[in-house]
Amino acid sequence: MTAFAFSTVAHILSEPGITKHLGALIAERFPGTHRPFIVTDAGFLRTGLLDLPRLSLEQEDMAAAVFSGVVADPPEAVVLEAVDAARRHEADLVIGFGGGSSMDVAKLVAVLADSRQAIGDIYGIGKVSGKRLPLVQVPTTAGTGSEVTNIAIVTTGATTKTGVVAPRLYADLAVLDAALTLGLPPMVTAATGIDAMVHAIEAYTSKHKKNPLSDALAREALRLLSRNLIRACEQGDNLEVRQAMLLGACLAGQAFSNAPVAAVHALAYPIGGIFHVPHGLSNSLVLPHVLRFNLPQAADLYAELAGVVVPHASGSEEVRAEALIVAMQQIGKMTGIETTLQQVGIGEADLDRLADDAMLQTRLLGNNPRELTRADARAIYAAAL
Ligand SMILES: NC(=O)c1ccc[n+]([C@@H]2O[C@H](COP(=O)([O-])OP(=O)(O)OC[C@H]3O[C@@H](n4cnc5c(N)ncnc54)[C@H](O)[C@@H]3O)[C@@H](O)[C@H]2O)c1
Ligand SMILES: [Fe+2]
Repeated sequence: MTAFAFSTVAHILSEPGITKHLGALIAERFPGTHRPFIVTDAGFLRTGLLDLPRLSLEQEDMAAAVFSGVVADPPEAVVLEAVDAARRHEADLVIGFGGGSSMDVAKLVAVLADSRQAIGDIYGIGKVSGKRLPLVQVPTTAGTGSEVTNIAIVTTGATTKTGVVAPRLYADLAVLDAALTLGLPPMVTAATGIDAMVHAIEAYTSKHKKNPLSDALAREALRLLSRNLIRACEQGDNLEVRQAMLLGACLAGQAFSNAPVAAVHALAYPIGGIFHVPHGLSNSLVLPHVLRFNLPQAADLYAELAGVVVPHASGSEEVRAEALIVAMQQIGKMTGIETTLQQVGIGEADLDRLADDAMLQTRLLGNNPRELTRADARAIYAAAL
């Protein structure tokens, strides 16, 4: 068996409603905390779902500050603003409370608030050094799995998405409370849920770091997500379904944090960066076309995953692999999210720029089971039009 390494967040709590007691949890697990700093976005703040957790912090005599300036696909300036606010608050613990955007910013606040490193020093892999504030992550979308990954994605310059990847980005504690996700609109539920499924699929076929633990997590993630995604869109208030989605996304996050994602994400990033299409939807738009491109190298693994997503599929490896692709396409269609680039305002004239930008994602493209050239990237975008 090939040697491998696997890391994840040491503590995970999964229980509907548990964030009502966030203050007590933090007091117990992080004694001496007085000034927690919550990172979230204005949309989530408006839901009022932060009120009880915040109150619970106050009840433990903690002076919590809330930074709600996160925006989707957070630009560097927002990260710096949050770091500044955390310093002014003299934060002694950081809580990411929201979707991937908020949790990613929280990671960077935790490593930069008390550090001599500038943000420009830490882009890339393994560049974070120095202290990090204690970090608690509370996802409110069932998608990115950022609560258990060692990655933060920042929009740098006008449109490029750049990653910070480092062991220090693993939180100390992740809290999965589906009560926070009951009001997630169906389209956000669908797009973020498909993002999580892509994490599992790409981890399972990752070229360099595929490993037995990530494989097991990816399979269980796909089982949970494929059984519950449509139901979560149709019955948003079903707590059990929502908790299964949150767990599925978390397991997929653990998988891809160790066996990283590849061309689906590489081609999705420019769609998000340039056209501000939400991350999960960007992934979903290119997914079937990248999977078809990968078939010559990955049919065996896709066939194995078909056994999880469409267990009734039978026939040759190729036929079962194709069944997985069709199933993913059908999930997209059933949820009603957009399925073509044109539907999100992207036209033929944009394809060259998208292909150029996708080729910059060398960290991700290197993990793809099949080597992908610029011409391939352009052809995939053309197929997705
Ligand atoms: N670090 C990682 O491992 C990782 C992995 C994948 C993606 N990402 C990054 O994560 C970001 C995307 O995160 P996301 O898809 O979770 O979306 P998001 O965090 O950008 O949030 C999307 C929208 O959903 C709203 N929202 C969030 N929770 C809600 C709730 N419970 N009820 C109602 N509305 C709610 C937010 O207000 C926001 O408008 C991108 O920047 C992407 O690059 C990071
Ligand atoms: Fe993703």
